[in-house]
Amino acid sequence: MMRFVKMTVNGREMEVGVDEREMLLDTLRDRLGLTSVKRGCEVGECGACTVLLDGVAIDSCLYLTVWCEGATIVTTEGLLARDGTLTPVQQALVDEAAVQCGFCTPGIIMSTTEIVGSGKRYTRDEIR
Ligand code: FES
Repeated sequence: MMRFVKMTVNGREMEVGVDEREMLLDTLRDRLGLTSVKRGCEVGECGACTVLLDGVAIDSCLYLTVWCEGATIVTTEGLLARDGTLTPVQQALVDEAAVQCGFCTPGIIMSTTEIVGSGKRYTRDEIR
């Protein structure tokens, strides 16, 4: 059954018609063309599909789009400034050549963006 979901994606308010069984990964990639969101394992293990949902990093392959009613979603496309300037997280990955094959880089960027933006201090042993 189709359902309409109101959400804000990368700063744009929208209403999207989706199958109620549809995962956010499929909505973002196939309906909205946001291909930075990668389809990897589809079981919540690899993180290639990571997006920010109300500021929290989630695996979009495990999250139903109908659960996003009223939510704010950010993908890697939404991080870029209008002039193309990278965020400090993106620039750090470029500066350190931390790309490997690049497939999972958007997921790494979104997870790191959440960590940096949280204000928490992470060590090898604990989170403060
Ligand atoms: S595709 Fe691997 S965690 Fe979502």
